Amino acid sequence: MTWLITGGAGYIGAHVARAMAGAGEDLVVLDDVSTGVAERLPEGIELVRGSALNPELVKRVCAEHAVTGVVHLAARKQVGESVERPELYYRDNLGGLAVLLETVAAAGVRRFVFSSSAAVYGNPDVDLITEATACAPMSPYGETKLAGEWLVRAAGRAHGMATVCLRYFNVAGAASPELADTGVYNVIPMVFDRLSRGEAPRIFGTDYPTPDGTCIRDYLHVADLAEAHLAAARRITEPGATGDLTVNIGSGTGVSVRELVDLISEITGDPRAAVVEPRRPGDSPRAVASAELAAKELGWSTRRGVREMVESAWAGWRLRHPETAAK
Ligand SMILES: NC(=O)c1ccc[n+]([C@@H]2O[C@H](COP(=O)([O-])OP(=O)(O)OC[C@H]3O[C@@H](n4cnc5c(N)ncnc54)[C@H](O)[C@@H]3O)[C@@H](O)[C@H]2O)c1
Repeated sequence: MTWLITGGAGYIGAHVARAMAGAGEDLVVLDDVSTGVAERLPEGIELVRGSALNPELVKRVCAEHAVTGVVHLAARKQVGESVERPELYYRDNLGGLAVLLETVAAAGVRRFVFSSSAAVYGNPDVDLITEATACAPMSPYGETKLAGEWLVRAAGRAHGMATVCLRYFNVAGAASPELADTGVYNVIPMVFDRLSRGEAPRIFGTDYPTPDGTCIRDYLHVADLAEAHLAAARRITEPGATGDLTVNIGSGTGVSVRELVDLISEITGDPRAAVVEPRRPGDSPRAVASAELAAKELGWSTRRGVREMVESAWAGWRLRHPETAAK
């Protein structure tokens, strides 16, 4: 079977494409390269440049490549932008998903893996977030991911399509420097950005009800996340696979912002002490996945730790910011 990977030139998508191709899966990538980087894809993986929201193009790619499964990563993903431009997020992330599902179902696709997010949960007050924890997204971005899951499951039922929704927690690191995240939206690249500009890292809030007073998150190496996609793809290609699965993709352990910033100082060799700023509205004290269902249903769990994430992310940062490496 051939997999269509939408958004496969993106940070996560390129890791997924490489992991799946490396495991012997046939695939084709569809990416409009709006935030992606074509060079992330090695020779041998075909990249079709264009929008996953274009039904004529999707239909043509499905026919030309005999596509039977889709891994859908292409999306807008900036929480803050989604608050300012909700229509754009609903149109592309949700309206676009509806067009994609309709088109690929008509083309005979019966396997669908969807990139969801821990943002569907909002800020639940629980020690470990399980898939049964109530969903209450705090942003239009999170809403589009939650409604996207509903749509994926409904389309799966309507068309006899086996589906998996993967709720990623905090993704970090890179399998090799050239695959690193180019955005500065997550805490690790945000700290690198501050250090590169000669500024101290910032910690927002040290008075949370956590052991060191800073927020706790669940970090996940992107290479582990890529393997989760492979496991999901294999799970729904087992003979007779039907139904839907919605699963957390996280490590199951929490790391505080203070611990993370200290580790970044150690790895970058930058001794600047973090400055403490007031809490940011909407940040929850703790967001850590229960990783049990992923282990049970996908036979998957994380293998790489937070040190490996920071070291590999730093190598990627220095590749793109040689002036930092020279310091
Ligand atoms: N990075 C994270 O921490 C995180 C966490 C949870 C969920 N996610 C989800 O994972 C997915 C991938 O995120 P990422 O971090 O790799 O982002 P990214 O911006 O690096 O990748 C998105 C890719 O999709 C492509 N794209 C966007 N719109 C497109 C369209 N209409 N048609 C074709 N291609 C299009 C972009 O060019 C890019 O290559 C997204 O769905 C995102 O919401 C990411």
